[in-house]
Amino acid sequence: MRRFVNVARVGNIEPGTGETVNANGTPVALFNVDGVYHAIHNTCPHEDGPLGEGELSGRVVTCPWHAYEFDVTSGECLTEPAYRVDRFEVRVDGDDILLSERAVDDCMSRWTAALGGGPVDLLRKGNGHATVE
Ligand code: FES
Repeated sequence: MRRFVNVARVGNIEPGTGETVNANGTPVALFNVDGVYHAIHNTCPHEDGPLGEGELSGRVVTCPWHAYEFDVTSGECLTEPAYRVDRFEVRVDGDDILLSERAVDDCMSRWTAALGGGPVDLLRKGNGHATVE
């Protein structure tokens, strides 16, 4: 059973904005897209930029360091398809915003499936993200 942690209060993150929260030691970028919250790992897989500090336009956040764009609803990188960030499940309980302690999806298994399930040479970076090599 998935465990959740309380990370923010409803109303603290205005629509069209995001912030970085701490989910039991994991930095997570939490965004409000038209009243619906979405959460992805805060660390950009390019060079570890803080995605929670990026500018949100619709459902796309732009990394503040080199402007790579990520869909906050899927974790997909729109600039470099080999990059992806983990997503976290978000729940609202009264005035509390809760995040799943663990990511919803694992980048490595999704890439393997996307590439037909065959042998894939993957490199998992120290920041928890993976890239196809
Ligand atoms: S660190 Fe995010 S685009 Fe370079």
